[in-house]
Amino acid sequence: MDAVLQYLQTNQQTALDELFEFLSIPSVSADSAFQPEMQRCAEFVRNAMTKAGLTAEIIPTKGHPIVYGERIEDPSLPTVLVYGHYDVQPPDPLNLWTTPPFEPQIRDGKIFARGATDDKGQLFTHLKSIQAWTETTGKLPVNVKFLIEGEEEVGSDNLEHFLQAHKERLKADVAVISDTSQYGDGIPAITYGLRGIIAAEVRLTGPSKDLHSGIYGGSIANPANAVAKLCGALVGDDGRVQIPGFYDDVAELSAMEKQQFADLPFSETGFLNEIGSGALFGEEGFTTLERRWARPTCDINGIFGGYTGEGPKTIVPSKATAKITCRLVPGQNPEKIMDSLKSFLQERCPPGVKFEFQSFHGCEAFAFDPTSPWITAASEAVETAFGKAPVFIREGGSIPVVSSFQQILGIDTLLLGWGRNTDNLHSPDEHFYVKDFHNGILASTHLWPKLAAVEA
Ligand code: BES
Ligand code: ZN
Repeated sequence: MDAVLQYLQTNQQTALDELFEFLSIPSVSADSAFQPEMQRCAEFVRNAMTKAGLTAEIIPTKGHPIVYGERIEDPSLPTVLVYGHYDVQPPDPLNLWTTPPFEPQIRDGKIFARGATDDKGQLFTHLKSIQAWTETTGKLPVNVKFLIEGEEEVGSDNLEHFLQAHKERLKADVAVISDTSQYGDGIPAITYGLRGIIAAEVRLTGPSKDLHSGIYGGSIANPANAVAKLCGALVGDDGRVQIPGFYDDVAELSAMEKQQFADLPFSETGFLNEIGSGALFGEEGFTTLERRWARPTCDINGIFGGYTGEGPKTIVPSKATAKITCRLVPGQNPEKIMDSLKSFLQERCPPGVKFEFQSFHGCEAFAFDPTSPWITAASEAVETAFGKAPVFIREGGSIPVVSSFQQILGIDTLLLGWGRNTDNLHSPDEHFYVKDFHNGILASTHLWPKLAAVEA
């Protein structure tokens, strides 16, 4: 172990340099203009796997390629499946970045770049720790399989098929993902639950072209007014989602879990300051952590149509669109919620307005037993590296593969987040603390022998 730790020390700068190279590739999965970059990024990941001592290959899918690598040390050892995603969210709005999103730079101890924390920087820690083990000891304490995909930020549509098709090959005892966050400054966390999601878009079309609102306004339905009405009906003033049946299957929090949430350090003013918001709002009768981690929601992600340029323009627009997501909790079925969302909107669409609904993706929520021996082993590794025992938390974001791992491969996932929720994920000036990057590599290095010792 000493030699491995020494290797990490000696190679800190190299690891950073390589991460910079990774971050310089604009692997934006949502935008087809970046397709060649996705391929280039997959090649980078494959090469990094080979360097780490894995046998690696790029596997094409209907969408962006999957990179798969493995190293089977000894069939009698436990096998760990590591997942990550090399795709990133679009960097827009570009003018709000201090330095360009794909030209990584370190300022104030933080690496700034799109994907720095979500998820390139975090997934890279596992490749670097594996490399440290193989280069110093020539072997690994466990068998590892790495599955790094390029479509997480767009819903992982082709992944389920891949998991079904390669079920035998992907067989493992437990999965590891670093794509979540620490609980707070100096408080590492292991996440045992995430919310699920459905994502959809509603497109309304009125007249065949934009019309003069003085000549025609008031005599036909305006699709922008209509989209506002549809969207406005989704959430009540009490914070409750109004879609019929939305709460029918929601698993309520146990008194014990409510207590565990309440025991975590949390300041409402600190939280509001962090996000630059003036007041809390949410479902009545629940605390902020409960609302964020264990209650379902409905959010409009974008609403547009008609004239959005500078100054006034007097029209009845031809078209208006809204993008909508619901976060789901254990018990809720994504298909069922998608169907009720669609009917809810359709029923409110005025006559003369064409209604089109596109569902993008969906995945279920989950919550694991936080007392499993895998979690205890991971907790020890995190404590050794970060100097503090992790707290056990749930999170409100979604990682679609986790419930698929559970359903298709029958394994639980250890969600070990090295980043922070304040790292500006999906926002301008995304960053990752250099310190969190190195501690992540260290925790990952300690993780493998800890997992090897678990009596499964
Ligand atoms: N890394 C996030 C998920 C996350 C972040 C979970 C912080 C918990 C804490 C992930 O890359 C992500 O953003 N996922 C999407 C999934 C969706 C597009 C299916 C999400 O949650 O919006
Ligand atoms: Zn992510």
